[in-house]
Amino acid sequence: MNAEVSIIIPTYNESENIKGILHLIKEHLPKNTIVEAIVVDDNSPDGTGKIAEDYFESLKEKTRYTINVINRKTREGLSSAILNGIQQAKGKIVVVMDSDFSHPPQLIPKLVDALKQSKTDIVVASRYLNGGSIHGWSIKRKMISKIATIIAKKGLGIKESDPMSGFFAFNKDIIKGINFDAIGYKILLEMIVKIKDVSIKEIPYTFSDRENGKSKLGTKTILEYIHAVGKLYRYGKKEQQKEIRSSVRFVSKAARFFSVGASGLGINYLTSILFTSSLDMWYLHATILGIMFSITSNFFLNKYWTFEDRDFTAKRTAIQYGKFAGFSSIGALVQLGMVYYLVDDLSVSYPVALVLAVATAAFSNFILNKKWTFKEKVWS
Ligand code: GDD
Ligand code: MN
Repeated sequence: MNAEVSIIIPTYNESENIKGILHLIKEHLPKNTIVEAIVVDDNSPDGTGKIAEDYFESLKEKTRYTINVINRKTREGLSSAILNGIQQAKGKIVVVMDSDFSHPPQLIPKLVDALKQSKTDIVVASRYLNGGSIHGWSIKRKMISKIATIIAKKGLGIKESDPMSGFFAFNKDIIKGINFDAIGYKILLEMIVKIKDVSIKEIPYTFSDRENGKSKLGTKTILEYIHAVGKLYRYGKKEQQKEIRSSVRFVSKAARFFSVGASGLGINYLTSILFTSSLDMWYLHATILGIMFSITSNFFLNKYWTFEDRDFTAKRTAIQYGKFAGFSSIGALVQLGMVYYLVDDLSVSYPVALVLAVATAAFSNFILNKKWTFKEKVWS
């Protein structure tokens, strides 16, 4: 059976902690769930990786709880270790935590439950939420953490109380297609910034400083952090600009489409008049010809000008023309039905009803042709 929950545990020189934490996790597995722990070790000189492997060997029951150790050749940092673990994770749900008992395994079932029950993408264990706290840190370390948090909140517009948390659970699917910089410690921050419309829930907990071994957070980590935030800031700006460009493009295309539509009315009128007066045609025939003329000119103008499609190969153009004519007819029917409904059922005055109906038909025609005839994304 495949694991449903994968717990990623990055380690560097954690020989005094790794066995104990793996054991404590085993004592607090989420109910009725198959769990795999993935230890990502950066070739720790103190043999952490081997200790983890031996511990798993010593277990009698190896189905409900498995332990995989990824032994990396060199030290590449915390975020990169976590990403490496995620790549190997079999579970749909991923939990990330430290190996030094700062993150209580007792909280894992709660994180997983919260993720399953609410429709949330990420559940974060927070030190700074009401009810959360930090135990055992020096004032200096607390200050560094607080300042880092404020920088993220103000600089990147983050709402969560603890975007620096190293303890969180998420649905693996949400990171599909995301390109991580994976600098330093800040993998969660990067997820919050880069995942579109991400939903996040926080649960308070008490972080307790490690009893054994040393923290690996130093000046280098702080510099990396500043670098990472700068990069994320520029990323956010770029995304914003992309969004603005998209709206400008959308509006300008809609404007072209409507101008073409207006020109079509003129062409329709002129050709109909021309055919009846100078060619002496029956007026219904003239009207039909007028409609065909205007659909045709609308089509070519929209293809060339509105949607900037310069590919006029016969087959492609014919198919597009067919779709365009089809949507135009549907648009006409929608317009007719709407006028009838507005005037007859809702007693709207005819001129107002006509404007509403024409606008609705024109707009829906625009969207339909954008998407299906000219194969563009609706929003671009
Ligand atoms: N594989 C690997 N490679 N693991 C690493 C590396 C590395 O280069 N550096 C650190 N780790 C592991 C540690 O062994 C530990 O399990 C975990 O990552 C956290 O490292 P600590 O050195 O204990 O970090 P900390 O306690 O100072 O920082 C904690 O709080 C920060 C927020 O203030 C962590 O939870 C951070 O994730 C968190 O951002
Ligand atoms: Mn720690």
